[in-house]
Amino acid sequence: MKVPVKLLVNGELYQLDVAPNETLVELLRERLHLTGTKEGCGVGDCGTCIVLLEGVPVNSCLVLAVDANGRQVATIEGLGDEGRLHPLQESYLEKGAVQCGFCTSGMIMSGKALLDENPDAGEEEIKRALSGVLCRCGSYKKIVAAVKAAGEKMQGTR
Ligand code: FES
Ligand code: FES
Repeated sequence: MKVPVKLLVNGELYQLDVAPNETLVELLRERLHLTGTKEGCGVGDCGTCIVLLEGVPVNSCLVLAVDANGRQVATIEGLGDEGRLHPLQESYLEKGAVQCGFCTSGMIMSGKALLDENPDAGEEEIKRALSGVLCRCGSYKKIVAAVKAAGEKMQGTR
């Protein structure tokens, strides 16, 4: 039995029928072809699948698609404007914070949730906000520096 759901993803309305056990990451990647969100462990440990649900970072492998019904989802594909990168994307490039890139969308979406609340977040706060995402390449230092720099850009201090 399929269940009808309606959700806003990156500002676009989608209506589709989902299986009761379908996860949000499956819906995003397999049904909407938004493959920027990665599925690593599938059990809530690695954070590569983090997206924002109503502005709050969630592991989308642990959220059922039916539970996203009537809610807003933001994924990495919705960042930046036509022809203009989001400050987080810019700073990531400037600081060389991407290696294999598998953790990147989870890190950036976690960083976005923090900076939307507090663009002046300090290093410890940034580390806490990113602590749910594992970077197998060990790029933590550069990632934290990129989020810090993005916050400064957002405040207009850089
Ligand atoms: S894939 Fe969701 S936490 Fe690892
Ligand atoms: S850049 Fe490879 S997992 Fe983080």
